[in-house]
Amino acid sequence: MKISVIGCGYLGAVHAACMADFGHEVVGVDVDPEKVSKLAAGIPSFHEPGLEPLLRKGVDGGDLTFTTDKSALSQARVHFIAVGTPQRGGSYAADLSYVWSAVDDILTHARPQPDGPLVIVGKSTVPVGTAQAIAERIAEAGLDAVVVWNPEFLREGLAVQDTLTPDRVVYGLPDDHAAGDTARSALDEVYAPILEAGIPRLLVNYPTAELVKVAANSFLATKISFINSMAELCDATGADVSRLAEAIGHDDRIGPKFLQAGIGFGGGCLPKDIRAFMARAGELGVDQSLTFLREVDSINMRRRDHAVELASTMAGGRLVGVKVAVLGLTFKPDSDDVRDSPALDIAGRLWGRGANVVATDPAGAEAVRALRPDLQIVDTADEALDGADLVMLLTAWKEYVAIDPAHAKSLVATPRVIDGRNVLDPQRWTDSGWEYRGMGRRSGPSA
Ligand code: UDX
Repeated sequence: MKISVIGCGYLGAVHAACMADFGHEVVGVDVDPEKVSKLAAGIPSFHEPGLEPLLRKGVDGGDLTFTTDKSALSQARVHFIAVGTPQRGGSYAADLSYVWSAVDDILTHARPQPDGPLVIVGKSTVPVGTAQAIAERIAEAGLDAVVVWNPEFLREGLAVQDTLTPDRVVYGLPDDHAAGDTARSALDEVYAPILEAGIPRLLVNYPTAELVKVAANSFLATKISFINSMAELCDATGADVSRLAEAIGHDDRIGPKFLQAGIGFGGGCLPKDIRAFMARAGELGVDQSLTFLREVDSINMRRRDHAVELASTMAGGRLVGVKVAVLGLTFKPDSDDVRDSPALDIAGRLWGRGANVVATDPAGAEAVRALRPDLQIVDTADEALDGADLVMLLTAWKEYVAIDPAHAKSLVATPRVIDGRNVLDPQRWTDSGWEYRGMGRRSGPSA
């Protein structure tokens, strides 16, 4: 199958490489020449485990190309829209300008193909109603093409695995049966290896497919804020949220995943997706249905306030001149993404309160240096710890979780640690002479 992927960010670059791995002929199209030249050389433009070998294989084998030249769209039968839908400035709503410009590019450059009708596949996360609006625009312009909505559920750091072996695939099909059959059989061909592996495929209509994605992200965000609200209760009562999560997680209706209390969720998806969902519900006149997401959002933001206040309390009531070692800046480990990162936000707030912040991160340092040149970034945890009055672990990178408390104690000025992700062993750190504080967690024995 000849495929184009419009937008080569996290989603598009991974999708293009995986589709080439499935044996298709793929061209990735993006407006950013720097990104395109890296990808065309088989080099990922961001940190994503497992992506580089896949890119190199596709590029070297000639099945995978990247270009800024939109006329390349004329060669493909299936066009994937994989552009970003960031939060619109001054509003909660999603900015769809990149989606509409991808549609315009398809209208300008796509050409009929000998092996069947054109199929336009939306993968970007969009407000419900967008697929129908795109289908109408395509029909008005007279392009003979079917639109199908096929949301992605990939997690950064696991994006390749999530694309090659997803939990499920969802096809949002048009109401017209013939058009729906065309779209379904084209996507079945594209995803043949996934379907042969028995991965569930759900056929739904456009609005259901669009809602599946935001509903899934809203549920995940709610789960995290739920356990973070329990962390607040634990702090107020002397209970331990990690043990509480473990205990409720044994109930398989609840499950143990996504119950890690800490400084909350961030990144390029969950925060902006729940906000765009609330904005869309307002437009549809059903804003009450999602008012709980406001609470999810505010519990999440409160975690950051709490971490800063805890730092101030542990430092004796003020942060001016206090040397704080910040371990981790990305929104989660195994990613170089600092978009809406709770860790970076907290580091910035500490700096704003007069702390002498010395931060480090295995993958996010470069992005932070560009965004926040005022923050001091060092290369190693040892450098950050050197002479620190307070240590804050804010992203659960393996190497930080594995830090030996005795070694760390030999480097710092005062052994005080805030475990912003509840990943350190409180007993071990306390036994090594540290004042340990987690998020809703006891510092001593919890039973
Ligand atoms: C998320 C969804 O998981 C994915 O399905 C969707 O396609 C895109 O958005 P991602 O943004 O890569 O993926 O990150 P995810 O692994 O979901 O983590 C989101 C945030 O929640 C991170 O900041 C993480 O640290 C935090 N988190 C996660 C918690 O605070 N506690 C948890 O238990 C789990």
